[in-house]
Amino acid sequence: MSPLAIFFFFFFNLSFASNTIYNVQNYGAKSNGKTDSSKAFLSAWGSACASTSVSTIYVPRGIYLIRKAYFNGQTCKRNAISIRIDGTLLAPSDYNVIGNDGNWITFENVNRVSIYGGIFDGQGASLWTCKNSKKNCPEGTTALAFYNSNNIVMNGVTVQNSQMFHILLDGCNNTKLQGVKVLAPGNSPNTDGIHVQSSSGVSIMNSNIGTGDDCISIGPGNSNLWIEGIACGPGHGISIGSLGWESKEQGVQNVTVKTVTFTGTQNGVRVKTWARLSSGFVRHVLFQHIVMSNVQNPIIIDQNYCPNHESCPHQGSGVKISDVTYQDIHGTSATEVAVKLDCSKTNPCSGITLDNVNLSYKNGRAEASCVNAAGRASGFKELTSCL
Ligand SMILES: *[C@@H]1O[C@H](CO)[C@@H](O)[C@H](O)[C@H]1NC(C)=O
Ligand SMILES: *[C@@H]1O[C@H](CO)[C@@H](O)[C@H](O)[C@H]1NC(C)=O
Ligand SMILES: *[C@@H]1O[C@H](CO)[C@@H](O)[C@H](O)[C@H]1NC(C)=O
Repeated sequence: MSPLAIFFFFFFNLSFASNTIYNVQNYGAKSNGKTDSSKAFLSAWGSACASTSVSTIYVPRGIYLIRKAYFNGQTCKRNAISIRIDGTLLAPSDYNVIGNDGNWITFENVNRVSIYGGIFDGQGASLWTCKNSKKNCPEGTTALAFYNSNNIVMNGVTVQNSQMFHILLDGCNNTKLQGVKVLAPGNSPNTDGIHVQSSSGVSIMNSNIGTGDDCISIGPGNSNLWIEGIACGPGHGISIGSLGWESKEQGVQNVTVKTVTFTGTQNGVRVKTWARLSSGFVRHVLFQHIVMSNVQNPIIIDQNYCPNHESCPHQGSGVKISDVTYQDIHGTSATEVAVKLDCSKTNPCSGITLDNVNLSYKNGRAEASCVNAAGRASGFKELTSCL
């Protein structure tokens, strides 16, 4: 054998020998955008799941109509499964087909599943129109949901135009989202980009998110969450909350949000709790190296959240907020009050730090407003006199 042949011999043996590839087209998937390929995808999953070796599900170029798909890992052989997508997965455009089903594509009880590339298109436009005209519409589905799963990777994946949330992580540990794109128009209702809850060790890196609701929303029961290198806008910003709806609720701790740009969003970094008797906490949070560009509420804690004054008789929120640091945050506010800390009257915020925060409004410095908040601020008198 020539040296080159020997190289290839070893290269192929090492990289591919034990990786079985399941092409969805071999299971009957059609790339014409019209034939429902749900069953074919599920059959390919069944094969990968039953395999004891490392396996790859491959989705070639083209458009695949998926009515609905539920990938359960309960009975899998616990091998790593990669899903490589060169094509687009398309949801039904008629919202009545799955609009009340909760999720479009679901993974549950899976371990070591990685998704590389591809476009997931929820085709939500007709449902948004229905909702925006205040007719009686279905709630809508989340495009891509993961429940009770570990070691998920999403790399270079685009999720767009979901009826409701785009990506949901619920009960997931050690999960990495990297180079993800989430795209929906600014006026599409409830289309949160990535919602994380009851999860630990999740990181969301180098991603681009623009939707009609929160770019990232962080629900109860999260810990060790790392968010870095995000471009957010349009949308409602990055939000911890809403929390404190339930009377007994798990808290949120150890959250880092760094190197983020907000462009034209409703909020920048927000912590939001219902004005209801409740329990729970938010602690050990760092917001660092953030640029605001024309953001309506760049820094906001709202513990008196009560939209339409319904279901909360303006009680003090029972969620305790402590040890929250805002560091190196600059840029422009679209409103005069750029820092608004409106904490609970029964559970005041403590340990709030504002360090090197410099936000401007029109041609001057923006204002700050603090209620029931304690901590320290360095820098400008607008801030130092606030806490
Ligand atoms: C994630 O970690 C938590 C805390 O260690 C644990 O209770 C939970 O079962 C884990 N979830 C999964 C899917 O393994
Ligand atoms: C906080 O979370 C990060 C990951 O986001 C982790 O590396 C670190 O160990 C956690 N710190 C504590 C005290 O748990
Ligand atoms: C605060 O921001 C304004 C406007 O960008 C800038 O002119 C000023 O130098 C900044 N001040 C500090 C101390 O960084």
